[in-house]
Amino acid sequence: MKVLSVVGARPQFVKLAPIAAALDAAGHEHIIVHTGQHYDALMSDVFFADLQIPAPDVHLGVGSGSHGVQTGAILSAMDAVLDEHQPDWVLVYGDTNSTLAGALSAVKLHLPLAHLEAGLRSFNRRMPEEHNRVLTDHAADLCLAPTEVAMGHLANEGLAERSVNVGDVMTDVCFRVRDMVSGQIPVLPAGVDPLAPYLVATIHRADNTDDPARLRAVVDALAALTTPVVLMAHPRLVNRARSAGINLTAGSLHMIDPLPYPQMVSAVMHSRGVVTDSGGLQKEAFLLRTPCTTLRTETEWTETIQDGWNILDPDLVLVGTAADREPPTAEPAAPYGNGTAAPTAVRVLAERVQEK
Ligand code: UD1
Repeated sequence: MKVLSVVGARPQFVKLAPIAAALDAAGHEHIIVHTGQHYDALMSDVFFADLQIPAPDVHLGVGSGSHGVQTGAILSAMDAVLDEHQPDWVLVYGDTNSTLAGALSAVKLHLPLAHLEAGLRSFNRRMPEEHNRVLTDHAADLCLAPTEVAMGHLANEGLAERSVNVGDVMTDVCFRVRDMVSGQIPVLPAGVDPLAPYLVATIHRADNTDDPARLRAVVDALAALTTPVVLMAHPRLVNRARSAGINLTAGSLHMIDPLPYPQMVSAVMHSRGVVTDSGGLQKEAFLLRTPCTTLRTETEWTETIQDGWNILDPDLVLVGTAADREPPTAEPAAPYGNGTAAPTAVRVLAERVQEK
């Protein structure tokens, strides 16, 4: 079987890692196309190096732009790539502009399309990711869902017959890296004692960054905490804060560049809590048994809020106590599988090729 993966943004590199390993282990051919949506070394190259992902076979180098410009640039570059490789499956990941563009290119060339992490829904149509994931699911020939909740959403939209629950591939990586870094003391910015209580924070969603008043309220709430806050700053946050004149090192804030994946896992494992608007980090906090406060009105990963591991705090009323929350005592649930999603996904892909 020949699979062509389309990736471009940081969370997709994380998901690609176990898929690339599973395809290799099963002896399948794998072409990796990097769209170039994320291009800073800390947003891209370090993930390939740390997670031992083979270098991309094709790099489209599209870079940043408005949604239409970025999606269109990927789309127009993809035809030639897909024509040349003629894969058995085009595999797209998650919900970014790279996902949607890869999906559109594949279906317009009548190439079989599989969507990994299918069926997630926030039901918030203001999120660009919600459109990307809904459109991609409906374009796909095969929806590889991470959870039963996602399978339910796909069934509600008439997609049950082409959907399979393979488990969550980010859990595969997260558990592997957790075991690798366990016992290590996290490397934190100067001024934050890794053995004393601290919080980890990330903010990058348009709803939190693009309105200066909202961004100021979020940053003020974090800066006012009495526990040190390690703010792993996405370039979008840095850019928006700079234009709005907002100081990302005020009060308790200790700003650092985005961390490589193993260092991020280590930092979360040892923290008192996570404050974020990232989907992936909410789930990683849950998997690493760290309480999470999510600065959004909803989450796609609803399993994280059962038992109280994750709480939604769009109005910034609970963030002040983020470091004081005790971990829930209920028996840990495992809604994301046991860390073997990628080999399962690869097996399903291989079975479905033979059926064609
Ligand atoms: C994208 C995804 C989002 C995902 C996130 C992970 C979409 C619609 N959104 O959001 O779902 O959670 O990636 O990080 O695809 N920039 C740099 N260097 C980079 C990348 C970005 O400086 O390597 C800056 C640019 O100013 C750019 C901005 O960040 O315009 C936003 O980047 P973009 O890829 O458009 O969206 P993200 O916010 O990263």
